[in-house]
Amino acid sequence: MKTVPFTKEQMEKIAKIYPTPLHIYDEQAIRKHAQRFREAFSILPGFREYFAVKATPNPSILRVLKEEGFGADCSSLPELMLSEQVGITGEQIMFTSNDTPAKEYKKAKELGAIINLDDITHIEYLEKEVGLPKLVCFRFNPGPERSGNAIIGEPQEAKYGFTRAQLFEGYKMLLAKGVQHFGLHTMVCSNELNPRYFAQTATMLFELAVEIKKRLGIELEFLNLGGGIGIPYRPEQEAVDYTVLAKMIADEYERLLSAADLRPNIYLECGRAITGPFGYLVTRAIHEKHTYKEYIGCDATMANLMRPGMYGAYHHITVLGKEQQPATETYDVTGSLCENNDKFAIDRKLPKIERSDLLVIHDAGAHGHAMGFNYNGKLRSAELLLKEDGSVKLIRRAETIEDYFATLNIGDTNGKEK
Ligand SMILES: Cc1ncc(COP(=O)(O)O)c(C=O)c1O
Repeated sequence: MKTVPFTKEQMEKIAKIYPTPLHIYDEQAIRKHAQRFREAFSILPGFREYFAVKATPNPSILRVLKEEGFGADCSSLPELMLSEQVGITGEQIMFTSNDTPAKEYKKAKELGAIINLDDITHIEYLEKEVGLPKLVCFRFNPGPERSGNAIIGEPQEAKYGFTRAQLFEGYKMLLAKGVQHFGLHTMVCSNELNPRYFAQTATMLFELAVEIKKRLGIELEFLNLGGGIGIPYRPEQEAVDYTVLAKMIADEYERLLSAADLRPNIYLECGRAITGPFGYLVTRAIHEKHTYKEYIGCDATMANLMRPGMYGAYHHITVLGKEQQPATETYDVTGSLCENNDKFAIDRKLPKIERSDLLVIHDAGAHGHAMGFNYNGKLRSAELLLKEDGSVKLIRRAETIEDYFATLNIGDTNGKEK
């Protein structure tokens, strides 16, 4: 059963100050989970989690995670700047990008971030545009060696990363240019709940590290297994047991790396697992419609959370104050975009919903607000942090119509552009 860390009364009070729709994150739950995550994986040598900033790019969330010992996985200039602003710098940042503009590499290098190259041609590009750093990492795409999953797709169809042959070629090129410190990264799945999949990724990278040592004499400083640990969006799903997963990886480490006298650090760069379950999109039912189906229309839209519309993803819904009521109705829960896939739920069994009821959409803490957009003139909602003492802090104000117009050249009322 999925629970909510606030009552209807509390949320009504909050919504008086910060109108719905709003995103709210449970700080205490994020911290407790982060501690559990770190502890479980601490059996791996030099373990570090680089939180995937793209999942929840908010400085207050980054600050909490920094305090819990996490670094930042950045993929763009603004994400690098966000990390810098909360004091995450140097090798606490992993910069994993693709089709990267020179100015982004420049900032990453200035910050002393670990630069993870997506393609062999970027070696020359990086060298020419900003110079090579002391430590360079490559992203490996195993192609047909591995199968992906529904969200991320098959590796050989993915635009990311080096082929196996390019990896060896790339390390050789860097050696020739005097680089002496290297890392290896991969990211082959998304929202994966099967720990065996990650253990297989570990096996793949560990075997590769041994081969790289044999063929090139390089002892990799670290192996980054990527992100992609899934979360139980559905109430009947089970969360990944980190202790079991860490042990599987540790066993493979022992079997392959320790046996070859190698001792690289092990990194992860999860986003979803770190904040996903601890963020909620709160919306109000503003309409009901009875046609060929029963509809509940909300003041949130897929512009606030696009996973259901984009991937058909399940997000659990709680009707606040009706947690104990039986799910007697079958609804499509919709937003107001002119897109028929703007539905948070289809044929969902829920208690009877009245207009003005508050609906809580679960597991919106990662790739939620972050994937927001302005289609149909929709404005991004506020983000709030629920503190341990029950108070809330505004960590991003809601967009206003002025914000929406701010980048437009409107012209005058006679239709003349300025
Ligand atoms: C390179 C990279 N690392 C990490 C992540 C985080 O993935 P997740 O939030 O599924 O853990 C992503 C997600 O898109 C990614 O592209």
